Amino acid sequence: MKLRFRSLFLILTLALLVVGLAACSETAQTDKTPDASALAAFQAEPATNNGDATKGIQVFGRMPCLTCHTVSGMNGGPPQAAAPTLDHIGTNAATRVPGVTAAQYIRHAILKPDDLTIPEYHNVMPSFSTSLSQTDLDNLVAYLLTLK
Ligand code: HEC
Repeated sequence: MKLRFRSLFLILTLALLVVGLAACSETAQTDKTPDASALAAFQAEPATNNGDATKGIQVFGRMPCLTCHTVSGMNGGPPQAAAPTLDHIGTNAATRVPGVTAAQYIRHAILKPDDLTIPEYHNVMPSFSTSLSQTDLDNLVAYLLTLK
């Protein structure tokens, strides 16, 4: 009898631990606000973009973006679990971080993806800060802004 109580106590303790851990990871995942230095970095990017979207499609095709992301009409298919779809990124980008424009958000996502805090996704995107010229970056951002 005594032993049974003890194992019941053990099971309860374990169950509480599991629930507690689940609650913690949930709060971490739903917190979309970047820290102050990341926010400043987003806001330091140019607020508007005047790249060439048509040339940006070529940059997009040349870079490995579509190995992780999906865009309807490009690689179509169902959204991959590993990365958010870029369909509507031109619209969504304006709402991701309060006080940050769509152009700032997309440019910074490409240059410093570690600053992204999208619930349900992990920080696995590599930075493209050294593999894109300023012109290619402007054009790529211009193209992504057209995905409304
Ligand atoms: C290795 C996989 C991988 C590659 C390659 C990759 N990304 Fe990403 N990307 C991700 C993941 C994962 C996220 C979500 C990141 C997070 O929350 O930290 C993301 C996020 C983004 C976002 C923000 C999306 C949103 O909905 O807010 C943009 C924009 C983006 N990527 C653009 C690009 C572009 C452009 C390229 C190519 C130059 C690229 N990515 C290449 C995995 C990748």
